[in-house]
Amino acid sequence: MIEFKNLLMLAPLAGYTDLPFRSVVKGFGVDITVSEMISSHALVYSNKRTLKMAEKSPQEQPYSVQISGSKEEVIKQAVEILNTQKGIDIIDLNCGCPAPKVANHGNGSGLLKDLNLLVKIANLIKENAKTPYTSLKVRLGFDKKIPNEIAQALKDVKSDFVVVHGRTRADGYKKEKIDYDAIAHIKQNVPMPLIANGEIDSVEKAQKVLEHTGANGVMIGRAAITSPWIFWQIRNNTHEIPPIVKKELVLEHFNKMIEFYGERGAIMFRKNLHAYTKGHEGASEFRNLINSLSDVKQITQHIENFFSHNQMVTHNFPQLVHLNKRTS
Ligand SMILES: Cc1cc2nc3c(=O)[nH]c(=O)nc-3n(C[C@H](O)[C@H](O)[C@H](O)COP(=O)(O)O)c2cc1C
Repeated sequence: MIEFKNLLMLAPLAGYTDLPFRSVVKGFGVDITVSEMISSHALVYSNKRTLKMAEKSPQEQPYSVQISGSKEEVIKQAVEILNTQKGIDIIDLNCGCPAPKVANHGNGSGLLKDLNLLVKIANLIKENAKTPYTSLKVRLGFDKKIPNEIAQALKDVKSDFVVVHGRTRADGYKKEKIDYDAIAHIKQNVPMPLIANGEIDSVEKAQKVLEHTGANGVMIGRAAITSPWIFWQIRNNTHEIPPIVKKELVLEHFNKMIEFYGERGAIMFRKNLHAYTKGHEGASEFRNLINSLSDVKQITQHIENFFSHNQMVTHNFPQLVHLNKRTS
């Protein structure tokens, strides 16, 4: 049973929230993890490869798989495929992806232009899913904010909860566009639990957003890429860092990548290393070096060297300062 009170969710981030990353974050106490967005079309037509994206690590519970799509028959078949997979607790419908190749076909945020279809697809998932829960993740609108219309539509949706990212598709990821008032407005007008999302990057911000919106929880995406321990900090109401050594965390994540993807995991891990070295002295030289390497042993050695010897941070990044004190 999910208790919809101060829930902490890891946001789905295509290209990042794969099984290795989610299991690292799970270690910091996040309640619900979500797969990367999986196209319903890809699930139905290139099943085997795509299903790997839906795999979960044993610690992930509850675990949510997010699908995109707007074609009823394809969505239905995709749900039937997911029904055959063990350990999925939630099927989530993506109603927010702004990417033209998704939205221009009426998928992702494209569904916000046709709320009747959005309701139909969300309910189709609920009716066909064998998972205990279904959910949907929306933005505030496509070109303009339509919180009233969205709240009205959500009254007809049978999903168990909704995540609201406080921006429209047109807002992209512009920091100043985030609108927690609109999230609060939707929360007041829908019967289902609501999780607030967007620009949450600290303990204070999480508390502020929970209070301001009255949401049942928060979902965090980008801040978790550089600071996967943010969930531990929120849970424990502290700026302290859990007693881990950054070098070990990075190596653990890297090893999980190789385990899950084989050797190509080494190249895929470059983006994570870019995030983990953010704020460290010599980060850009290290990134250039890493970008030229693909050998697992060599990369392991360089990670060890960098995080053992490079204790300095050049940005005001208090978490890393604390963390590095522990490694010295
Ligand atoms: C690189 C990247 C990939 C994303 N992929 C997805 C996705 O697959 N599904 C989805 O619903 N949202 C996706 N999002 C949106 C995030 O889930 C989240 O709503 C947004 O980043 C705002 O939260 P944040 O400020 O905590 O990052 C993505 C965002 C980024 C930056």
